[in-house]
Amino acid sequence: RLRVAVLASGRGSNLQALIAARDAGGLPVDFVAVGSDKKDAGALQLAKDAGIPTFTLNPKDFATRRDFDVELFRQLDATGAQMLVLAGFMRIIDGEALAPWVGRMINIHPSLLPKYRGLHTHRRALEAGDAEHGASVHYVTAELDGGPVIAQARIVIQPGDDEAQLAQRLLGFEHQLLPAVLTLMAEQRLTLIAPDRVAFNGKAIDAPLQ
Ligand code: GAR
Repeated sequence: RLRVAVLASGRGSNLQALIAARDAGGLPVDFVAVGSDKKDAGALQLAKDAGIPTFTLNPKDFATRRDFDVELFRQLDATGAQMLVLAGFMRIIDGEALAPWVGRMINIHPSLLPKYRGLHTHRRALEAGDAEHGASVHYVTAELDGGPVIAQARIVIQPGDDEAQLAQRLLGFEHQLLPAVLTLMAEQRLTLIAPDRVAFNGKAIDAPLQ
């Protein structure tokens, strides 16, 4: 089984969806650690409740971003993780520090990338008058929210949607999307074959899986 570590900064509903998928038997992975930059992250409590080892690093204890990230990856290496999942990890990661993990680290982002990298994605989709919105799972590279997209979930923006409603409705789709992609990873059906190119079942894909 694939050994997976998860990084999360917040409430952890995506982590919970991953744990639920594993418990249901459909996701053949072992969660070896959950790490956070926030000691009060809900994700840490969820992990503890599920018997998954946790660790927290406080950014204030490090002089530079790179120092933090070097220690982060040192701890992750020590867990024996083969794959890293960012599930609501709200920090930029230093490109040089993450380089050894390129191809083995994925992130879920609440927009139809390449649209709306960064923060406030729901608000920006509404303000742009978009007809649809979505979430993307992508390989993490040095470029913020810029790595090749593996799969997306799309939803229609309804008249009257506000930021909170849109975020909430999308979250339900995120909870399907992330376990689905991690399952494909565990089945070794996904590979990063070039800096900007994903292969599914050994064949390069021209567009994200839907
Ligand atoms: C999710 O919506 C995730 O897509 C987003 O944070 C939320 C975490 O929720 N991630 C990002 O914005 C990454 N830039 P959760 O803690 O309940 O899983």
